[in-house]
Amino acid sequence: MNASATQLDKREQLLVRLAESRSVTDDVFRMVRADALYDRPIPERHRIVFYIGHLEAFDWNLIAGQALGLGAADKEFDRLFAFGIDPVDGGLPEDKPSDWPRLSEISAYNLRVREKIDNILKNHSRSSESYWQYPEEVILNVTIEHRLMHAETLAYMLHQLSPERKILPRSYQPVDTRSRLPIVSRMIDIPAGLATLGIRREGESFGWDNEFEEHSVEVPAFAISSHKVTNGEFLQFVRECGYDDRRLWSVADWDWIKNQNIAHPLLWFKRQDRWFYRAMFEEVQLPLDWPVYVSQAEAVAYARFVGMALPTEAQFHRAAYGTPEGPEETERAYPWGDAPPDAGRGNFDLQRWDPVAVGSYPSGRSAFGLEDTLGNGWEWTSSHFAPHPGFEPFPFYRGYSENFFDESHFVVKSASPRTAACMLRRSFRNWFQPHYPFVYASFRCVNNRMEPVC
Ligand code: AVJ
Repeated sequence: MNASATQLDKREQLLVRLAESRSVTDDVFRMVRADALYDRPIPERHRIVFYIGHLEAFDWNLIAGQALGLGAADKEFDRLFAFGIDPVDGGLPEDKPSDWPRLSEISAYNLRVREKIDNILKNHSRSSESYWQYPEEVILNVTIEHRLMHAETLAYMLHQLSPERKILPRSYQPVDTRSRLPIVSRMIDIPAGLATLGIRREGESFGWDNEFEEHSVEVPAFAISSHKVTNGEFLQFVRECGYDDRRLWSVADWDWIKNQNIAHPLLWFKRQDRWFYRAMFEEVQLPLDWPVYVSQAEAVAYARFVGMALPTEAQFHRAAYGTPEGPEETERAYPWGDAPPDAGRGNFDLQRWDPVAVGSYPSGRSAFGLEDTLGNGWEWTSSHFAPHPGFEPFPFYRGYSENFFDESHFVVKSASPRTAACMLRRSFRNWFQPHYPFVYASFRCVNNRMEPVC
């Protein structure tokens, strides 16, 4: 096959992926009853209806506005739906449903934008490539991954919407809460070594601005838990009054849990003295062997409770991708090796709406023996979201990462059940505020003491 044929295939693949990602988000909006579309399930975020307009406005502003220098699709809507919200502690949006356009107007805008974009992409074939101010391939990857990230954001947002306001997807399979063999979480020793973070600029693969440049980090020896912390383990913390033990919390974290009356993970609830769990579409008895989903503040308090800490971003990389055989050349592309992700390797890529028992995917195990390293829940780290050496903002989307290099966001690694396959690459970094309890994020603990504990 000659070089340009390969290029063409790549472009066609991107167009197919764009179409697929549109049907993923269309399906998510179909799960919302018509009378719930103007609801705001998470007080800090926009109403659901915003995101219907946002995905198209984003694509249009990027493709037409930034990359091709074309005019507006709709002056008002292009701007109205341009940006989401990154909440500041305490400050909540106050808009009313009537402040937003009618659904029929938003739907018409969407149809028009998709048509315009599809026409541009059809006509701007390789011969007219020079029209693009930025590589078309990069722009398409940005639109696809941005949309798929919102598919996940919408999932955890709709998780907060009561079941009677949602429509069960036809393909829905009830959650599996059968308990397995008892899980024996153990601490795994990771010897000192190098971890590679980031991705090479000269490489072929797409990465967001915050993934560049690739670099190595020297990581001293540490130990890390083999499994993500489970609901069952976290229950111990709740029962032993971890939420009332002032010593386990920083000043800011303590103020937050007390002001918000937080005394258990967000998706847990108690009925007649028994704990239950709010899955996406059902309520079940608390599944003790599922990973616990909590805010970073709660994860840090738990880690202190057991005398440990959260891993740094570099420790996560070393434990997940390093190998006992030694030098950095043996680091893996994925925790299990170099084979691309498939459904048997972990609970990711939209297979389910909820977690499964930790350790359910032996074929996804890392070389050091970590379970569920990719999937079944993001993992909080103790690292602030900050630029890698050599960072350059995308000129066509300067704020994507840079706006969050503010010491108020922490890096989150791994993936959740609702993370699409394309974002399972090693260098992908997610980030959230420590007091954001809505994401599907779990954690594991590390022990940084080098001498053996007697
Ligand atoms: C990278 C997931 C933190 O949801 O705030 C979507 C992704 N940025 N639109 C977010 C994002 C702009 C972002 N995260």
